Amino acid sequence: MGITRRAFLKGGVVIGGALLFDGIFVEPRFFKAEETVVKVAGLPRPFDGFKICQVTDIHHGMALDIAYVEQCVKAANALDPDVTVLTGDYVESNKKYFPEAVKRLAALRARHGVYAVLGNHDYYAGASHALKAFHEHDIPVLMNGHVVIEDNGSRLCVAGVREFIEDRADASAALRGAPADAPVVLLSHHPDYAELLPPDMRVDLVVSGHTHGGQIRLPFSRYAPVVPSMYGQKYTGGLVRSERGVQVYVSRGLGAAVIPVRFNCPPELTLLVLAPS
Ligand SMILES: [Fe+2]
Repeated sequence: MGITRRAFLKGGVVIGGALLFDGIFVEPRFFKAEETVVKVAGLPRPFDGFKICQVTDIHHGMALDIAYVEQCVKAANALDPDVTVLTGDYVESNKKYFPEAVKRLAALRARHGVYAVLGNHDYYAGASHALKAFHEHDIPVLMNGHVVIEDNGSRLCVAGVREFIEDRADASAALRGAPADAPVVLLSHHPDYAELLPPDMRVDLVVSGHTHGGQIRLPFSRYAPVVPSMYGQKYTGGLVRSERGVQVYVSRGLGAAVIPVRFNCPPELTLLVLAPS
């Protein structure tokens, strides 16, 4: 006895409804901690095993409330990081969400500090309001600038660029005066900027977000039909290399943009562990 057309349609509606429910109400709030080892040539011994926690693309607003931000912060601190980097898009689109979001992010703890760059949504909401909130909580925002982390006489440089689309990202300015012997971790909200780094510049790792893994991926696949990058699927997530060979880590991010939906693409809390190559 074959399945009737009506039963088939009913089954389709039930499965479709379940997937829609999952994509809107379940998957966007259940982040996954992703740990990746990143090999760095000439990594000074004190930085072997150095843990970088990345918190990115929370998009706090109507869809992702402050309790979710608190949950992300708590989980990030539980990773016991050496440094925590924030790579932008703290709010979805309204400046009124900055004070509370950044207040919660100020509870992030890492041995060598917490450093931020801004994302395109922070510019849509008002970059000056974002900067004010970070300043009030003493979290440095690297606007084409860098900091040097010292450990047992060795140094690591954490640099950050202004947002690539909405502002003027400039890695040369960011690294001006940086020690030549220190490995460089460069924070850039948009991964596409990694393709434009000057060829002779030492950058060991670019840490980015922005693409959200595409938010919606086809079932049983990494393929995302919509990716906000000039390089298509390349920067949907994970560790890849730019055309000239610079390592780029792209997080799927913790939130969702425009439509708060995720499918086959869970939000991500990132832990990068440095190791000598
Ligand atoms: Fe984003």
